[in-house]
Amino acid sequence: MIRASERTTGPEPGSAADVVRSWDARADHYLELFRDELEGKPHDLALLADFARRLGQGARVLDVGCGPCGHVAAALAAHGLDVTGLDLSPRCIELARLVQPGLRFEIGDQRTLGPDRLGGSFDGIVSNYSLHDQPKSLLPGTFAAWAAALRPGGRLLVVAKEGTDDGVAADPLGSGIEVYWAEFTAAELAGAAEAAGFAVERLADRAPYEQEIASQRLYLEASLPRESGLDAERRAP
Ligand SMILES: C[S@@+](CC[C@H](N)C(=O)[O-])C[C@H]1O[C@@H](n2cnc3c(N)ncnc32)[C@H](O)[C@@H]1O
Repeated sequence: MIRASERTTGPEPGSAADVVRSWDARADHYLELFRDELEGKPHDLALLADFARRLGQGARVLDVGCGPCGHVAAALAAHGLDVTGLDLSPRCIELARLVQPGLRFEIGDQRTLGPDRLGGSFDGIVSNYSLHDQPKSLLPGTFAAWAAALRPGGRLLVVAKEGTDDGVAADPLGSGIEVYWAEFTAAELAGAAEAAGFAVERLADRAPYEQEIASQRLYLEASLPRESGLDAERRAP
């Protein structure tokens, strides 16, 4: 699947500009294919419901790489969370705002999040397949950016496809567009989470549903410590 890039011009494969190039071009096609897909994924719906229950009503949550459907943001909002969908692709955000008119969607890069972006620290972050468009080498930095955007005790839910690919490929959805495509192992996800200061609470996988691309799905749930030792020391008299 991975091959040498056929492009001689344009952004560096896997860069932020490359995510914009490839997702602006295929956002409409993706929306057509996946607008209602979450309804056929009971396992994922149950996990989102559990994530929302643990955080509690009104918790502020970021859906990173929300895509054009905005369906994960919508599912979390239906459970009473205060959700912001974030995506690098302006076309994805335009479409998400159209199909989920009551929700908040912003253009932005999950790799450069921090405590001051989008109104400050979040209680939770969900990444539903937002890691595949960037090189594997950016995994540690992305988890670190997520940690920086969360409050102490903040929770993280990551969904990704399992595998070893890392490079340029033809769009698996058949749009004809060249895309960047990276896959992960459970150990890679857990290692990046722990290096960024998260405690991994659950690492699981499931076989693909019949309607999905035939690759194993990985689920990581993690949380930040409620307070660092340094915070406690600073408060001591
Ligand atoms: C496979 S789609 C998943 C969309 C959505 N989460 C869903 O479940 O339908 C990946 C999305 O992640 C976005 N994305 C990739 N890298 C990103 C980054 N660094 N920052 C923000 N969004 C990113 C892409 O633009 C795309 O919309």
